[in-house]
Amino acid sequence: MDVCILRRQKNNLFLHNDGGNGKIRGIDRERSRKKWERECRPIGEEKKKRKRKRKMEKILDVISKEMKKAFTVAGYDGELGKVTLSNRPDLCEYQCNGAMAGAKRYKKAPIKIAQDVVEALGESTVFSEVNAVNPGFLNLRLKEEFVKEYLEGMRQEEKFGLEKPTHPKKIMIDYGGPNVAKPLHVGHLRSAIIGESVKRIARYAGHEVIGDIHLGDWGLQMGLIITELQERHPDLVYFDENYEGEYPLEAPFTISQLEEIYPTASGKSKEDAAYKEKAMDATFKLQSGVRGYRAIWKHIMEVSVADLKKNYHNLKVEFDLWKGESDVHDLIPAMVEGLKQGGHAYISEGALVVDVKEETDTKEIPPCMILKSDGASLYNTTDLATLCDRMSQVNPDKIIYVVDKRQELYFEQVFRCARKTGLVRPETELQFLGFGTMNGKDGKPFKTREGGVMRLESLIQEINEEMYRKIMGQEGRSMPEEEAKETAKAVALSALKYGDLSNQASKDYIFDIDRFTSSEGDTGPYILYTIARIKSIFAKYKEMGGQSSAAALQPASGAAEKGLMLELAGFNAMMEGAYEESAPHKVCAYIYGLANAFNRFYHETKILTEEDKRKQEGWIALLALTRDVLETCIDVLGFSAPERM
Ligand code: ARG
Repeated sequence: MDVCILRRQKNNLFLHNDGGNGKIRGIDRERSRKKWERECRPIGEEKKKRKRKRKMEKILDVISKEMKKAFTVAGYDGELGKVTLSNRPDLCEYQCNGAMAGAKRYKKAPIKIAQDVVEALGESTVFSEVNAVNPGFLNLRLKEEFVKEYLEGMRQEEKFGLEKPTHPKKIMIDYGGPNVAKPLHVGHLRSAIIGESVKRIARYAGHEVIGDIHLGDWGLQMGLIITELQERHPDLVYFDENYEGEYPLEAPFTISQLEEIYPTASGKSKEDAAYKEKAMDATFKLQSGVRGYRAIWKHIMEVSVADLKKNYHNLKVEFDLWKGESDVHDLIPAMVEGLKQGGHAYISEGALVVDVKEETDTKEIPPCMILKSDGASLYNTTDLATLCDRMSQVNPDKIIYVVDKRQELYFEQVFRCARKTGLVRPETELQFLGFGTMNGKDGKPFKTREGGVMRLESLIQEINEEMYRKIMGQEGRSMPEEEAKETAKAVALSALKYGDLSNQASKDYIFDIDRFTSSEGDTGPYILYTIARIKSIFAKYKEMGGQSSAAALQPASGAAEKGLMLELAGFNAMMEGAYEESAPHKVCAYIYGLANAFNRFYHETKILTEEDKRKQEGWIALLALTRDVLETCIDVLGFSAPERM
């Protein structure tokens, strides 16, 4: 922008008072604005671009480079100079094991190689300490000045120096997957929480990401509801085959009625074969387009989706697409025809199937079933048709399915079938991100106290209440009721999401409300307390007349401060890894370490009473950076921090 301002000033066109008539020396504002756009703005943007292009290397790469140089100068293969984080933080900050690795090759004692490297390194701007220790490790510490400069770079870069992808990908994420008309239960919680975070991470990493809820809106549950509705209200106009008029706009049920109708119907169908037969027939009729049934279906969708939207909104989960199984219904016939003509699909025991086993399989992979013997489509069929739809509508480079890991074999079949039959282009990556089960304290799948399936709404309410109690129970607490409620909600969401995301997705975990809502330990509330603490320091600093958090950072003056700075410096590498491995738990582990480092520093440092202003301002700037990094991280995890707690 600086260049631009200069140019603007030189060009007095822009400085002249127009006398209120909208003209400047005969040139009207519009023209002058255009001229500015043409001549100045592009320069400003060019500059921004140039700035963005400047690559901010990961700190481990920068210091590895320095080490590699030393190995080369000492006459060894530079590649040996790779530096890693120390696994003995009591001894050093980083380490290099290259001398050990090179011993055999150079037929030398590793300690000798390490000593050669130390000598070759000489005076370094990066390292304050390089020790060759037996049997041949290089223990490293960084110069405070170097770390400070690195963080200054981070502060100036967009996204704290996370590199932009050279070829941004178009990624679709299939997550949520609720079934219309069935209340959301905890089984859908993990998909929503993990999927939302994976989506936000990929977006932050610079990719174009589209989240699709993939509603289960076309299956037997619809037929069940229709059947039950007919049992109760046979006179409804929807069931009159001769009716030709418009159907009512208003649904003949509310969401709570719907939520009672479905389980009732589902229960009946398990006991009563004739009832189930009816429901299957209703499903078939719905899918074949019977008008009245379609009209009921529309009502179910409207009522149900409105409720789903509310629930997901409360979870801070936002989908770009609200597509469902029903959306691809019409694509099925052509797809099936294609599969047959391509010679892939054949009839086996009446059903239409595609073989998907491969020679290298160590376990049996059954064929992928496309149509049942009665011609009805299946879960597979809609997933394959959805792939066709996604390829033609979006053409993504990658699709990630965030689904219960018990569906892994199923997705293996679907993916293989789609590849083999060419429904997806070969370059499109299909990834199954399977998650484990959320268990109760007894180690069994989480249930209500009565042993039923826990509704998501009840679960959330329980956490909100627990959090509210905790907040109000704090000593000296004087938060107004309304604010306390809002705060409790925000903190509860962090407890819920962090409790889930801090585990590797594929693992089962134990839902422990006491632990998750605790303000100490590896929890969401602990992270939020840390952020609130920083914000409260800022508020006090301001009260004391302090102003800016834009001052220059200062080199660390103690171990805790340096520890905090080193944690911050790991941000870009961490985020890159979290994206590449679709691993929100890496973000959690990182902010837990960062929050710990901050709190250690905070307990050791009297920030607000520091007399050396430069030092104090440097700390304030460091705090601002810490807060920004923490807030960025919780944002990609899908929750946010209240102003105070
Ligand atoms: N509705 C399914 C269920 O409740 C999950 C959908 C997962 N996504 C998919 N493309 N099949 O189990």
